Amino acid sequence: MLKIVKDWMNKSNSINKDVSSEGPIPEHIAIIMDGNGRWAKKRALPRSAGHHEGMKVVKKVTKLASNLGVGILTVYAFSTENWKRPKDEVNYLMRLPEEFLSTFLPELIEENIQVRIMGDKTQLPSHTLNAVEKAVEETKGNTGMILNFALNYGSRSEILSAIEEMMIDYKNNEIDSNVSEELFSTYLMSSGLKDPDLLIRTSGEMRLSNFMLWQLAYTEFWFSDVLWPDFSEAHLIEAITAYQKRGRRFGGI
Ligand code: FPP
Repeated sequence: MLKIVKDWMNKSNSINKDVSSEGPIPEHIAIIMDGNGRWAKKRALPRSAGHHEGMKVVKKVTKLASNLGVGILTVYAFSTENWKRPKDEVNYLMRLPEEFLSTFLPELIEENIQVRIMGDKTQLPSHTLNAVEKAVEETKGNTGMILNFALNYGSRSEILSAIEEMMIDYKNNEIDSNVSEELFSTYLMSSGLKDPDLLIRTSGEMRLSNFMLWQLAYTEFWFSDVLWPDFSEAHLIEAITAYQKRGRRFGGI
């Protein structure tokens, strides 16, 4: 057991040195974790097995990202459109945050990671919401990486809610008609978080699926054919290394 831990530490230290010497580590990485269902199907397993394996990968990626000095890791765990899935699958997905946190919260605390949630909480079953809010509460003083769960999240409805709230504030004379990008951003669910520098989507799909449409305006995209349950530390390093080779001009020259 001790040898395994030592090997992992040596391996992860050399990985850290490799990527941090190549260029800046992205401050905010957002991930669309896709391909759990296909991973399970290939193995003649129920889709839930793919989601379960996917959850384990979130743990690995969280640890490595935090180790590398990533500031924010946002993971798309459930979209507002995912309610259309069969009831059994939705129920399973709604149990996963509890399982993830019941087994991983002590480690998150030890790693000084702060848990946050971004999405419409009103529709979440109370057992899901309670588990996530407990983790948010217990980690709110942590100063390390932010692990931001997009849970029942949809970008279009986020933008519409932001506009509605702005209209109320305008009516109450709390804001005037000059709306800057900075002001608008404060009405979004990601308020206070830097926009993602790097977006990763797995499983070969090349679309945004209603994810952070405003926030991804200048983000670098990295797509991979690998199915999320097969995503490894090496893939995260590959994505970061590719990001470090991009010339980000933000519309300039
Ligand atoms: C997309 O794959 C994945 C999801 C809708 C769920 C993502 C959830 C996890 C990775 C589990 C992590 C959860 C926690 C709480 C840490 P898909 O089911 O659409 O795959 P398919 O396109 O191959 O069918």
